Amino acid sequence: MDRIGITGGRPLNGSIEISGAKNACLTLMPAALLTDEPLTLTNVPRLADMKTMRALLESLGVEAAALQQGRVLAMGAEDITNHVAHYDIVRKMRASILVLGPMLAREGRAQVSLPGGCAIGARPVDLHLTGLEKMGAELELRDGYVHATAPGGLKGAVVEFPIVSVGATENVLMAATLAKGTTVIRNAAREPEIADLAKCLTAMGAKIDGAGTHEITVEGTDRLGGATHRVVADRIELGTYMIAPAITGGEIELVGGERGLVTALIEKLEGADIAVEDTERGLKVRRRNGVIHAMEVTTEPFPGFPTDLQAQIMALLTLAQGVSTIDEHIFENRFMHVPELARMGAHIDVHGGTAKITGVEKLRGAPVMATDLRASVSLILAGLAAEGDTVVSRVYHLDRGYERVEEKLSACGARIERIPD
Ligand code: UD1
Repeated sequence: MDRIGITGGRPLNGSIEISGAKNACLTLMPAALLTDEPLTLTNVPRLADMKTMRALLESLGVEAAALQQGRVLAMGAEDITNHVAHYDIVRKMRASILVLGPMLAREGRAQVSLPGGCAIGARPVDLHLTGLEKMGAELELRDGYVHATAPGGLKGAVVEFPIVSVGATENVLMAATLAKGTTVIRNAAREPEIADLAKCLTAMGAKIDGAGTHEITVEGTDRLGGATHRVVADRIELGTYMIAPAITGGEIELVGGERGLVTALIEKLEGADIAVEDTERGLKVRRRNGVIHAMEVTTEPFPGFPTDLQAQIMALLTLAQGVSTIDEHIFENRFMHVPELARMGAHIDVHGGTAKITGVEKLRGAPVMATDLRASVSLILAGLAAEGDTVVSRVYHLDRGYERVEEKLSACGARIERIPD
């Protein structure tokens, strides 16, 4: 397995182009199942997760072609030839469950293996299932699979989620576009990826109101058509690279970055004396006076501070002046980067879902191990700031979510390289 080697301690300067959002793409791709006409996505990130989703869709009968070095993905689901999403593919990626809503809506049946994905807590799919049941789906859990049918077709319903779930909102939203009648999704997720999905579905002919708010209303239609859609910028990649110059010093312009995608992070960075400025091409980030101030962070659904940036901000706070706290409210078991950061000299105490971080003057390079996608990039950020050499192993996690990370960072002066197996 590849590793990433870093020699830290250098400020970073330059610009980084932000790719299309992995998580938006993971719901836009299954939307191709809703129509027999072509759906073309542009600004597609070149990531392992996209390949996995493509393989899953192809196994269901979708024809897919990557164009422009993988930046454009043309998909056509003229015939759905298979209704089973097999364990072999689904176990690699939890977002595979997002084929369930579209398949049920168009075909009236689907069989999807229960998902795997990052090991960050139990991560059930009950909300996806109860949402679809409300719309008339009949579900049975057998042999590790969800066996779903909608004998009379899906029907519009009021689906009120007890907690905010990005994936469950996406599954129900996609299913509702082809249901009979009106669906109202209450306590819907407000993540930019939901608004992006709704924009694409609307271009395909869906009637959707309120995406990006707590309540989404969908008027079902008989059929959807094809469309071409540009994937929204990846706010987690954006936030990660905003934290890079904050932790190393220097100044980086994030090309394609938009304030509205990362308002909660900007608020925290400004409070820590990190400057975030608008430029013609995006955002520019630099440390104001060399000192990072401690802070309190609580992860929340959008527009709150994203759980997917929690590990990265923790890397920054290991070097802050004073004591910081991070409350992780979305996923239990998402502090697996803590012992690895500690190997680099960080002082972090974890009690339940709260981490207390006492800033240290320096981190020291060390061999560390990536445990999940966001944890792995937090170790890279820490390695860039640390004195000496850091080697991050198990970087396949990283390749699921970050495109050409070593190229993007070395273009800004980082000494970072991939060490092939
Ligand atoms: C998505 C993102 C992931 C991000 C997460 C939270 C994708 C592909 N992944 O994941 O990167 O970390 O949002 O912003 O977009 N829950 C249930 N039952 C369910 C579904 C969820 O209890 O049926 C719980 C989860 O365990 C978690 C919380 O709800 O505690 C939020 O999870 P959810 O928003 O569904 O996350 P994902 O859509 O899986």
